[in-house]
Amino acid sequence: MGLPRRRFLALSGAALTGALPRPRIADPFTLGVASGDPLPEGVVLWTRLAPRPLEPAGGLPPVPYPVGWQVAEDDRFTRVVRSGTATAAPEFGHTVHVDVRGLRPGRDYHYRFRTGGHLSPPGRTRTTPARTSSPRALRFAVASCQSYSDGYYDAWRHAAAEDFDVVFFLGDYIYEGAIDSVGGNRLDTGLALPDTFELETDTLDLYRMRYALHRTDPDLQAAHAAFPWMLTWDDHEVQDNYADAVSRFPDVPAQDFLVRRADAYRAYWENQPLRRSHAPAGPDMSLHRRFRFGDLAEAYLLDTRQYRSDQVCGDNLRAGCADREDPGRTLLGAPQRDWLLDRMGRSEARWSVLAQQVMMAECRYGGPADRRDMDKWDGYPPDRQRILEQAARTPGTVVLSGDLHYNYAADLHLRPDERPVAVELVGTSISSAGDGSDSTPQLDLQREYNPHLRFANAQRGYLRCELTRDRLRADYRVMSEVTRRGGTVSTRASFVSERERPGLVAA
Ligand SMILES: [Fe+2]
Repeated sequence: MGLPRRRFLALSGAALTGALPRPRIADPFTLGVASGDPLPEGVVLWTRLAPRPLEPAGGLPPVPYPVGWQVAEDDRFTRVVRSGTATAAPEFGHTVHVDVRGLRPGRDYHYRFRTGGHLSPPGRTRTTPARTSSPRALRFAVASCQSYSDGYYDAWRHAAAEDFDVVFFLGDYIYEGAIDSVGGNRLDTGLALPDTFELETDTLDLYRMRYALHRTDPDLQAAHAAFPWMLTWDDHEVQDNYADAVSRFPDVPAQDFLVRRADAYRAYWENQPLRRSHAPAGPDMSLHRRFRFGDLAEAYLLDTRQYRSDQVCGDNLRAGCADREDPGRTLLGAPQRDWLLDRMGRSEARWSVLAQQVMMAECRYGGPADRRDMDKWDGYPPDRQRILEQAARTPGTVVLSGDLHYNYAADLHLRPDERPVAVELVGTSISSAGDGSDSTPQLDLQREYNPHLRFANAQRGYLRCELTRDRLRADYRVMSEVTRRGGTVSTRASFVSERERPGLVAA
């Protein structure tokens, strides 16, 4: 029998921890709750105390707060199966990370927090299937790129109403650029952002406030409260197009940029449902990891930013860049690349899902020369070749990508004249510059120059995917608009690919 709500609220932190009572605070659960990195026996629960979320330190004094937590089998919390007290410490921005264990595989659970007489909104999560099980299906969302100031997050509201086992978030959770005091395009929110948001985000306090701003959004909170997430980052969590210790600005010394990277990585870890084993040490944070869904799928969360060789021939579109072929350059870094190749080679799962940031398929941009984007796998062909060689030996390889703010469906070829060895699904942005459109002259050119691109689209939205024993299905869910509130969602295109014979076919 679980604790009724009143008694859960009444239990003071002092009684549970022996700590001194804290001064009363206003409702600190303004940023919602989240869960992530599920295992068969556990999951990470997250929240952050911030009574005034847009202020430094969320409006809290620099003292720790005890935070009670409960995990229940039912949404009324009558069957509580795990509970305890965590500490929201000021040195971690008053965030809470609870690594719950002792749960049962493949189950839904409900969780909540409380502190100082305040109860958090409830969240729902789901453990992964038992390692020895043979699940019939895995349903997941793929999303990336949520520029707060460019639009609303109605895509998240629609995603939250679907049934997903997990959400893969592939980076650009925040954007680091200046936002004006009314929140950019969100003109009806009545926001009065502090002047500090008009600065580029480059300190720990500013990164923390940026996460708080994004997390105030109720639709984003709903999506976090509905499913466990598995996240990785891209560039904007630190700085546009950075590479390892190299700033996008050429005159910034590495040691200075690494100070900023340390602040950005710390704020990232604090503000996401990640285990303590991924907490950063200075400017370094190990984020790549793998998850198993019984014998159906193995998911690899990759980091293509922290270890990459600097982009060659500039960060963006370049033609005839011979240096990109240099075998000494790498996108993943040798240790992560070798870990991935080794694990893919030994996997006994039917599907291998590579959840990562940038487009892997070759993409010629057309025009007078053979232009390619040096920030993507096209800038690192030797690394890509190694992955595709492994994919050719690993049936059921699926690459998930974000970053571009376009939808693409691509067949991945080891050699252009042979059958595809894997498929790639590139998901568009949740919110970024404008509402987008079904196509653009640039996308039309790309389709013409890249016959392996089965689909391209420039609207906002997310991917809805299902893996069954022998087949992948992907639905491209697109938004009518994001620059005004209340956008509707529809399925623009659907594709399937067979495990034994990869290649995307319109469904
Ligand atoms: Fe982005």
